[in-house]
Amino acid sequence: MTSARERDLLLDGSSNPLRDPRDKRLPRIAGPSGMVIFGVTGDLSRKKLMPAIYDLANRGLLPPGFGLVGFARRDWGAEDFSQIVYEAVRDHARTPFRQEVWDRLAEGFRFVMGSFDDDDAFDRLAETVADLDRVRGTNGNHAFYLAIPPDKFPVVLKQLSRSGLTAQDGDQWRRVVIEKPFGHDLRSARELNEVVNAVFPEESVFRIDHYLGKETVQNLLALRFANQLFEPIWNSNYVDHVQITMAEDIGLGGRAAYYDGIGAARDVIQNHLLQLLALTAMEEPVSFRPDELRAEKIKVLSATRLFEPLTETTARGQYAAGWQGSEWVPGLLDEKGFNPESSTETYAAITAEVDTRRWAGVPFFLRTGKRLGRRVTEIAVMFKRAPHLPFEATMTEELGQNALVVRVQPDEGVTIRFGSKVPGHQMEVRDVTMDFAYGAAFTESSPEAYERLILDVLLGEPSLFPVNNEVERSWEILDPVLEAWAAEGKPDPYPAGSWGPESANQMIERLGRTWRRP
Ligand code: BG6
Repeated sequence: MTSARERDLLLDGSSNPLRDPRDKRLPRIAGPSGMVIFGVTGDLSRKKLMPAIYDLANRGLLPPGFGLVGFARRDWGAEDFSQIVYEAVRDHARTPFRQEVWDRLAEGFRFVMGSFDDDDAFDRLAETVADLDRVRGTNGNHAFYLAIPPDKFPVVLKQLSRSGLTAQDGDQWRRVVIEKPFGHDLRSARELNEVVNAVFPEESVFRIDHYLGKETVQNLLALRFANQLFEPIWNSNYVDHVQITMAEDIGLGGRAAYYDGIGAARDVIQNHLLQLLALTAMEEPVSFRPDELRAEKIKVLSATRLFEPLTETTARGQYAAGWQGSEWVPGLLDEKGFNPESSTETYAAITAEVDTRRWAGVPFFLRTGKRLGRRVTEIAVMFKRAPHLPFEATMTEELGQNALVVRVQPDEGVTIRFGSKVPGHQMEVRDVTMDFAYGAAFTESSPEAYERLILDVLLGEPSLFPVNNEVERSWEILDPVLEAWAAEGKPDPYPAGSWGPESANQMIERLGRTWRRP
């Protein structure tokens, strides 16, 4: 724990005598700044953004005069907005509630009522922001967080520009934060990027892929590039295939407005899973400077192709009613708000290949689904079998493939699976695992992805945010799948609580592999 004196010194930034500017271990503290949130009444704001802002304040990482402005149509006064943030923090913050932190933070709250096509409301927003600069010392540094549906981006961006909110004088900065979906195919993503870049230069655009804010995802880079142990075998000589799984047990009740017509591939594969693939397969960057890191990710995505024919190398499904644990849950088509004829997939799997010397011939199987057996996200690197086993065949019947599994969540850590002798007189060999668990190895708990990402926005640290060409390349990979599916009938049904449709098993079995049951 940081003492009060240490915290004050930390808050003091550059003049902090405890701090050697070359020492990067201490988290950097955001300079004078504020954030405007559009979509302040939505789930994302309530469950993730507001709690993360409080958690950052609680950890002493926000400037003392931080300003938070909510913009929405609701007829709220300042008190109502403060109450909404309070409830969000109470219900979802990661760190304990501390009155003095809250009081200081709440002094910087402002609320502006208005709709996106209301010029006066944006003029009031501009005045509010200018007032924060005067009263709270936010110094003209503001981030605009668009936690709103993408079809509203153009009007909001236009308004920000019209009302002068995007103008930056001298050292001041203005940044925009956008949430996926970044378009729904390559064409619309390009259009969206044009709209955004017409108002904000690319270096001021922060596209959130919250998986990149997760500790375990960043640890993939440490695991690969800080150790001598893994990298020599991280290639097609040793790796048989890679499975990237993001399974969720939740259904889509309440999310029809966002999800119907979008589906699992657009919602998760286009962004989170292709980013995980990029980090798993990329070459070592020259340094972790944002441009160097992105250059390596782009190279991998550019070399990523889909196995064909797509009818055999992809699979999609839609959950039907079933037992989720001990609860009988409805199928997608019976969830409120979904078109009963909907062909939106809730399960998607693809087979990709990274066409480089390192990875040629190694299939990367990516899958995601709702209402699956349990919630788990993992990257499993599955190794080839030993070329020769000097044991009687019956002694190795229970020996599988060696595997290195990065457990992204829950139960964050890394598992290595290998064969070991079973105690006894025989030389019987069976699979065992060696585990590293974050919870056991470190006393610090991991910050929420949104804490890290919001702080990075305020610091202007862009490494963890995909740039427009990464987004466009990801659509380029996925578009043929979406087109092929659109031409087919409905997705294959699978019972809630299962591990997806039979077609997904057939997909992987055709290439002689089977899915892991995490
Ligand atoms: C979001 C998707 O990006 O990630 C959701 O839109 C999904 O559909 C969510 O539920 C999962 O995030 P996490 O951090 O809980 O794995």
